[in-house]
Amino acid sequence: MTKLEKIYEGKAKILYTTKKPHLLIQYFKDDATAFDATKRGTILEKGIYNNKISAKLFELLKNAGVPIHFVRLLNDREMLVKKVEIIPVEVTVRNITAGGMSKMLGLAEGIKLEKPVLEYHYKNDSLHDPLINDDHIQALKLATEKEMKKIARLSLKINEVLKDFFAKVNVTLVDFKLEFGRFKGKIILADEISPDTCRFWDSSTGEKLDKDRFRRDLGNIEEAYKEMYKRIFSI
Ligand code: TMP
Ligand code: ASP
Repeated sequence: MTKLEKIYEGKAKILYTTKKPHLLIQYFKDDATAFDATKRGTILEKGIYNNKISAKLFELLKNAGVPIHFVRLLNDREMLVKKVEIIPVEVTVRNITAGGMSKMLGLAEGIKLEKPVLEYHYKNDSLHDPLINDDHIQALKLATEKEMKKIARLSLKINEVLKDFFAKVNVTLVDFKLEFGRFKGKIILADEISPDTCRFWDSSTGEKLDKDRFRRDLGNIEEAYKEMYKRIFSI
């Protein structure tokens, strides 16, 4: 499948049309940004790791019955995906306090939550992706009540599948962000699942193995992505 026209360039990925109108090529860049792209950098070979990691996790979720936009891996940096209409709501699933939740509620990082916490953020960089709820989403017509019920149910299921998978490679899934889209009237998972969009802590040492190493200038960033890649492909 060859790339035709670039139709979208985001901070970490580019989307190209193909000769099939319902399929796109999703290309993963090495560019890294944080804090609404006020911090910018490059994580060498991140695009390769994120492409392959996402492909493996999408396959895992597909086998668990989660509808996904991923079709197949094309090469090191590209995957074929279904062309969805992205719902501009970032869904965060949290198992342990960290990042935005710790900041918002004045909580230490690392507190295990009694039950997974779902958060919705309006996907809008100029507004700094504000926290919104189901009422905002319906009032702004970002998604219907029925669609959000489906999204919440799928997000919790994805959390269960991923938590179990990562436990097998001695990684604690702290939190992660998902994006969904509409395809032929149905809600399906889109975007990526990678160390850019998840917090991964080594279950024995607590070492951070994700993009927080870039956000917080912790060093050994490439090594963390490579380590996650190795562990994910070890089973
Ligand atoms: P947060 O604690 O900063 O809200 O992040 C929650 C999770 O979402 C974390 O695993 C990182 C991921 N995330 C993204 O994928 N994109 C973003 O723009 C932000 C802020 C977080
Ligand atoms: N993608 C976000 C940005 O650049 C940052 C993040 O992942 O923290 O704004």
